[in-house]
Amino acid sequence: MKWLLQWSVLPWSVLLISGLIYQSHANADSNSSDKDVAAGARLYIQCTGCHSPSYHRTGPKHCGLMGRQIGSVSGFEFTQAMQGAQFIWDKDTLDKFLRSPLTAVPGTSMGYKGIASPSERKQLIRFLSTLNANNPLCKR
Ligand code: HEC
Repeated sequence: MKWLLQWSVLPWSVLLISGLIYQSHANADSNSSDKDVAAGARLYIQCTGCHSPSYHRTGPKHCGLMGRQIGSVSGFEFTQAMQGAQFIWDKDTLDKFLRSPLTAVPGTSMGYKGIASPSERKQLIRFLSTLNANNPLCKR
């Protein structure tokens, strides 16, 4: 029952999963992109050891990530490697980064080996794209 304990100390995750369950019940003919978002939310659990959508932890918050300059969100101390990188987060830059963070941004302190599966990266990126101002996860 260890997982149960982990959920209870991560209230936003509970909100996220219950929201998704609600959504999938409410929307009988949910299309493939909804399914990608739901699958991406499950994959995001790999990130929550260090990240949260709405606040900084070991890693920076992810709300508002899409369209943001890399290493720019205020209140988080990025490495020189991330501050010095010059690109905007979008589908393509996230895909490269999540495949292999250290290859995409040499010197980053993000201690994560990357996600080999292209379809898993796509699902995760679809979920990250939903983390905008309209998402309840970003209003906390
Ligand atoms: C072991 C901790 C850890 C894990 C696990 C982790 N990250 Fe990170 N992440 C970080 C740290 C630390 C940084 C800042 C790195 C730097 O400054 O070089 C970061 C930075 C990022 C950034 C850049 C954000 C910005 O505003 O420029 C993105 C995007 C990101 N992580 C996505 C993810 C995703 C998606 C996952 C899950 C697949 C993940 N991370 C897993 C620690 C982690």
